[in-house]
Amino acid sequence: MFRTHTCGDLRKNNTGSQVTLAGWVQHKRNFGGVLFVVLRDRYGETQTNFRPENKELFEKAESLKSQDVVNIIGTVVLRPSDARNSKMLTGDIEVVAESLKIFSRSKTPIFSIEDEINATEETRLRYRYLDLRRPIMQKNIIIRHKTASAAREFLNSEDFIEIETPYMTKSTPEGARDYLVPSRTFSGRFYALPQSPQIYKQILMVAGFDKYYSLPRCFRDEDLRADRQPEFTQIDIEMSFTTTKDIMDLAERLMAHILHKTIGFVLPLPLRCMTYDEAILRYGSDKPDLMIPIEIHDITDIVPNCGFGVFEKAVLNGVIRTLPIPRASQFTRKKIDRLAELAKEWGAKGLAYTKFINGKFESGIAKFLTSEFKAKLIKHLNENLDEDCMLFFVADRSEVAAKVLGGLRVMLASELGLIDKSTHNVLWVINFPLFEPNEENPKGITPSHHPFTSPVKEHIALLESDPLSVRADAYDLVMDGYEIAGGSIRIHEPELQNRIFRLLGMDTQQVQKKFGFLLEAFEYGVPPHGGIAFGFDRLAMLLAGQDSIREVIAFPKTTAAQSLMDGSPTKVDIEQLEELSLKIIEKKDKE
Ligand code: AMO
Ligand code: AMP
Repeated sequence: MFRTHTCGDLRKNNTGSQVTLAGWVQHKRNFGGVLFVVLRDRYGETQTNFRPENKELFEKAESLKSQDVVNIIGTVVLRPSDARNSKMLTGDIEVVAESLKIFSRSKTPIFSIEDEINATEETRLRYRYLDLRRPIMQKNIIIRHKTASAAREFLNSEDFIEIETPYMTKSTPEGARDYLVPSRTFSGRFYALPQSPQIYKQILMVAGFDKYYSLPRCFRDEDLRADRQPEFTQIDIEMSFTTTKDIMDLAERLMAHILHKTIGFVLPLPLRCMTYDEAILRYGSDKPDLMIPIEIHDITDIVPNCGFGVFEKAVLNGVIRTLPIPRASQFTRKKIDRLAELAKEWGAKGLAYTKFINGKFESGIAKFLTSEFKAKLIKHLNENLDEDCMLFFVADRSEVAAKVLGGLRVMLASELGLIDKSTHNVLWVINFPLFEPNEENPKGITPSHHPFTSPVKEHIALLESDPLSVRADAYDLVMDGYEIAGGSIRIHEPELQNRIFRLLGMDTQQVQKKFGFLLEAFEYGVPPHGGIAFGFDRLAMLLAGQDSIREVIAFPKTTAAQSLMDGSPTKVDIEQLEELSLKIIEKKDKE
């Protein structure tokens, strides 16, 4: 038997029993001639000790190094009261060793196996097996597991069926670049790794599986960030004979179940719904973090004749918005200049500011502002204008003002520690535009989501005349400022679908080539349907209290989409390429 107990099991009431433990040597200390060896596994740590009386055993134990893997048989004894450790689960006892078996030796670990380390993320990813041994990483991976179990448990109880969809597929449209897999049997042809199972899950509705779910891997070749990986996991759901309300209700209850099962958090239902327009106006983002206690204010209406030329001119064909931030005194000249530079990088023409201190506006643009305007501004901002308040202003197109002030809101709230991290906020954002402007597209628009998203019924008549004003029957779930799920009601009427394709500038041939198989399936009886997909990694990240999804993925990639542990992507043998009829064209360095 390798072990009778784990390294987290033993308590006072085990005193006197003989036990067998297995694990990694966490550390070893010689203390007054007695050798203390702490063993670690994923359940905890247990202190063992070796006494000098048994010379052979003692010498063997002396040879142990950090991270050797061993088996120890011994007897549990109560520690002397002054040696008890309340921080250790097993801190009341220790095991007096009677035998030691060394399974394997370890090289000196590159970094220590504990929560606080100063290794770079590159080093952690290169030696991920060591990194994953750290208690915090074990906790993260276990939360991920609990999230998946809770999702399955809930969906199974709601009569959903888990169905796998293929990873080698025909390219599906979610807006990113595809990862391609060359076919050996059909030279010159490729599979695409799915960006999501979107088309397959819709076809499963045609096939009569009215409640589908899966936890698929999705693959997207896009610019990576802390919350984006080239391969990531979704909790993917599709339902037939369903309404927007049904899907949102199900997704909310799923969220509540997961939050409760993983971290014991009680999510009050129903969740708040906010329109896309309101989110953009007040928070400058379609994924507003409502734990940040500051908001953007539109002051366009009070700006005419305000005295500041830049605003008076800008108001003729744009908006003026302001972001009040507490504790103006923290903003040094240098910091303000840095923020102005950043605002320009984000597309603003400038970042005006003034401070409101002791009831008066001072510095920045204060000297230009008329007293009438100052009075109007105080009235407009009302209780949002603290004593000692910093005000930033952007005058521009509404999208630019939203982007820049929304970006500053999140960045400054985090820098100034204004975000309450002790709780969570989850809300729906609804009424998204169906299309976004896109100059590269023949008709100047692209779908905001995917082309199967249904417009809201009341807007169908506007499709041709005013496409950018059409709203989608779509919904995003936002948690703590992250988009953690998104979905929609799908179009199931061929005429409507064809109208959308025409609007997107796609001719029949293109449509047939890309989505022919879906449209053909729809000719054999398609139920009305809709669904949603959760960003599973993002959800696990938030539940684990982390700020990068790499912390909850066992083997993630870097932002350059590399795996530092195995070195992929790597070159392959010429024979492998030949078999696939592929030839590498070396890229010439761009001058
Ligand atoms: P969408 O593209 O919004 O929708 O994706 C759903 C959710 O997946 C997460 N996500 C990501 N997570 C990590 N890395 C990425 N690169 C990444 N990209 C997206 C987000 C997002 O909310 N088929 C549709 C869903 C539907 O309509 O049912 C889809 O994939 O949290
Ligand atoms: P200027 O007159 O360009 O020197 O700008 C005066 C101040 O107004 C500077 O602090 C600029 O950053 C700011 N500013 C200029 N244009 C804008 C704008 N469109 N929105 C907000 N502030 C601006």
